[in-house]
Amino acid sequence: MPEPLNNSEILNALAACATEQGYAPPTIKVLQSIDSTNSEAARQANASSDGAVWLAEQQTAGRGRRGRHWVSPQAANIYLSMLWHLPTSVSSPAGLSLAVGVAISDALHAIGFTAAKLKWPNDVLVSGKKLGGILLEMHTLGSGTQAVIIGVGLNVFMPAESAADIDQSWTDLGTEHSPDLSRNTLAAQLIAAIRANLREFELHGFTAFKARWQTLDALADKELVLSVGSETIVGRAAGIADDGALLLDAGKGVQSFYAGEVSVRARGKET
Ligand code: BTN
Repeated sequence: MPEPLNNSEILNALAACATEQGYAPPTIKVLQSIDSTNSEAARQANASSDGAVWLAEQQTAGRGRRGRHWVSPQAANIYLSMLWHLPTSVSSPAGLSLAVGVAISDALHAIGFTAAKLKWPNDVLVSGKKLGGILLEMHTLGSGTQAVIIGVGLNVFMPAESAADIDQSWTDLGTEHSPDLSRNTLAAQLIAAIRANLREFELHGFTAFKARWQTLDALADKELVLSVGSETIVGRAAGIADDGALLLDAGKGVQSFYAGEVSVRARGKET
């Protein structure tokens, strides 16, 4: 049984992170069981401070992108949501989920795991298998301020009996990296890395992350199949644009696609 998530241990590990020096720690709430940490963050958003974090041992109605269920068994993985008040300097959060993907990679590097790649727009993969995902949801606060709820799910010690409910090829950090890793340390590294990248995103937008993101691109140069509404488009991945759009060369010039409108898979693979 993995060690339980613990607020003080996460805060202590967070305080030791280099990027946290000089910053006040966020409010962190560890819940035993909740429908979805993103839903809880949305319910509490008006009464919560910027940067507040919710973690849960279990989600009974965890949500993925495109209406998918996120399998969230008890005391096994990381289910984390962070509230971020969108600064007025950020005119559009496009590219933000990619910057959060880079943060997840940074956090994994900090615990010594370097094999994760990013699949546009928001999947964390190891050898083509899903390790984690990001779900961003916009929320308008009572004050009129726009907020983003940044949800991160990472498979750490996925029990075999829960895995039967996962409808895609998956893996976890216990298998890929270490059976002894601490979810509290990992949670702290994730929080520190997301906060650091939000500060950078606030100043420079996605351009600050583009080069790093491209070194992590799981789809680089692959033949892709895109579903855009009822249309299927096949082409070769041509990287990402300065605003985080996926670039596809489908034989008639390079086209841009945005995360809300499209699902992507490498040709010949179910992802
Ligand atoms: C995806 O890959 O489809 C995104 C998965 C996001 C899952 C996380 S777990 C924490 C947060 N709460 C949710 O209900 N979803 C996100």
